[in-house]
Amino acid sequence: MRDNTVWARERVRPVGRIAYVDGRYVRHDLASVHIEDRGLQFADSIYEVFGVFGGRIFDEEEHLDRLERSLREIGLAMPMERRALRLVIREIARRNRLADGLIYMQVTRGAVRRDHAVPQEPPPPSLIITAKSIDANGFEDRRRSGIKVVTTTDQRWARCDIKSTALLPNVLAKTMARAAGAYEAWLVDHDGRVTEGSSTSAWIVDSEGKLVTRDLDNAILPGVTRRILIEVAESAQMPIVERRFTVSEARSAREAFITAATIGALPVVEIDGQLIGEGRPGPVARRLHELYRHAAEVAANERA
Ligand code: PDD
Repeated sequence: MRDNTVWARERVRPVGRIAYVDGRYVRHDLASVHIEDRGLQFADSIYEVFGVFGGRIFDEEEHLDRLERSLREIGLAMPMERRALRLVIREIARRNRLADGLIYMQVTRGAVRRDHAVPQEPPPPSLIITAKSIDANGFEDRRRSGIKVVTTTDQRWARCDIKSTALLPNVLAKTMARAAGAYEAWLVDHDGRVTEGSSTSAWIVDSEGKLVTRDLDNAILPGVTRRILIEVAESAQMPIVERRFTVSEARSAREAFITAATIGALPVVEIDGQLIGEGRPGPVARRLHELYRHAAEVAANERA
């Protein structure tokens, strides 16, 4: 019989076999929400991505904190108590035998007859949780070789601090980067400064050897990995400054790297075709990645 699952169509490995949708554990290839769901109609929804390594969920509370904040900013409450949410996260990881990968969580404003305005009596929100395996070895290869980045105009909205699923500009930027043979797109504001990557935080090591990442405001997502990295860098007495940097400063930086829950710190060796430093992953990014992994593992074990 012809395999017509989403996996066969998209040539993706069938790893996330069980999903959680609105109180039920269902087969992933059959899981769905209604066509009138406001997440689908208006991207009226919030999401989170938790990294899972060696079966441990990294930085779980920080991601839940950010979820709660994003929801609050658009007038939604947490879909269930934290304790229950943690249990569902663990159950989805267990049912999918997730070792290395991610847990994806999305809360939408629910399904209701289409109208831009949120109804006086809003529908119950939808909660979707899925698991996805990642090839940890593939990431380690990338960590050894480093990745390429291309820059492009930041075309997103004015509340990028909210982790909403309105990601069309991010999707287009990442697709452009991949077409150009790069792994990530760095988004650039009207003043020629890098805001962040299409799905990662952006960092450089400047000419003085200081770690630099953009200061937080509404123009970027407050990355959880970014925050933990700042903490571990400070404890290791590595000089760090939160400030803006231009594309030209990045191109002539000693090192550059990106961070996100699923990747830790990944070195950048080329920006817009120009080699960074000696064109090889640098020692600062490597050290930070190790410090981050260690800190996250210790915290995950304590909470397990
Ligand atoms: N992306 N900036 C943007 C725009 C992001 O989408 C992400 C995360 C980050 C890094 O945040 P964190 O360290 O909390 O993962 C920065 C996730 C992984 C995604 O969209 O899949």
